[in-house]
Amino acid sequence: MFSLTSEDLSGSIIDCAAGPASFNAELTAQGYDVISCDPLYGLTADEIRDRIGTTCDTVVANARAASNEFVWRDFTSPDHLGDVRMEIMQRFLADFPAGLREERYLAQALPHLDFCDGEFDLALCSHFLYTYSDQLSTEFQVAAIREMCRVAREARIFPLLKSYGGASPHIEPVVVAFRERGYEVEIRTVPYEFQRGGDKMLAVKKPGSTRAG
Ligand SMILES: C[S@@+](CC[C@H](N)C(=O)[O-])C[C@H]1O[C@@H](n2cnc3c(N)ncnc32)[C@H](O)[C@@H]1O
Repeated sequence: MFSLTSEDLSGSIIDCAAGPASFNAELTAQGYDVISCDPLYGLTADEIRDRIGTTCDTVVANARAASNEFVWRDFTSPDHLGDVRMEIMQRFLADFPAGLREERYLAQALPHLDFCDGEFDLALCSHFLYTYSDQLSTEFQVAAIREMCRVAREARIFPLLKSYGGASPHIEPVVVAFRERGYEVEIRTVPYEFQRGGDKMLAVKKPGSTRAG
């Protein structure tokens, strides 16, 4: 989703709207430095588990009903999608208690992150900002990405589509807003595509931002 290189992974990463995903568990197990933020982490593991079961059934049913809108490559069928999602979520749940203790999972919500300026090398956000284009205004998108760029050298957002397909109407005004403020903004093609046409991420760097070390 983010074209992460070994250099990207070697830095400190904040994953925003990280959800019940296995990214933090998998990278932490390999010795990398990741913090995940999501208001979801304010719930107990049991509450999250209940929610995951319901959401997974909906996601699989939606994918089956609109199967032409997806690229069946990484996931070979709606059932395979469901199985992989449940595996990922189980991996998250197994790591959640330790991650809470180690403060790798924090209940924080965009557009406010409780970190100092420049604490991270990279801020990531998948399937939240443009996915919920109908609920999150352009002002919210700009504020959220500005906050991600405040705490990190670079912000990456994936995908640039709305949840049921179609380009997000916020992309252009967001790109213009950041370019006007002197940020470096790039739309890059990535190797992952599940929603048809959803193979692009937005990469935003604040002016004068360079990698330390
Ligand atoms: C569709 S999930 C995406 C999870 C994960 N990033 C992924 O790609 O699988 C969207 C997530 O956004 C979280 N969320 C909702 N409002 C948020 C906010 N204001 N700031 C950060 N995350 C939020 C939800 O709790 C949910 O876990």
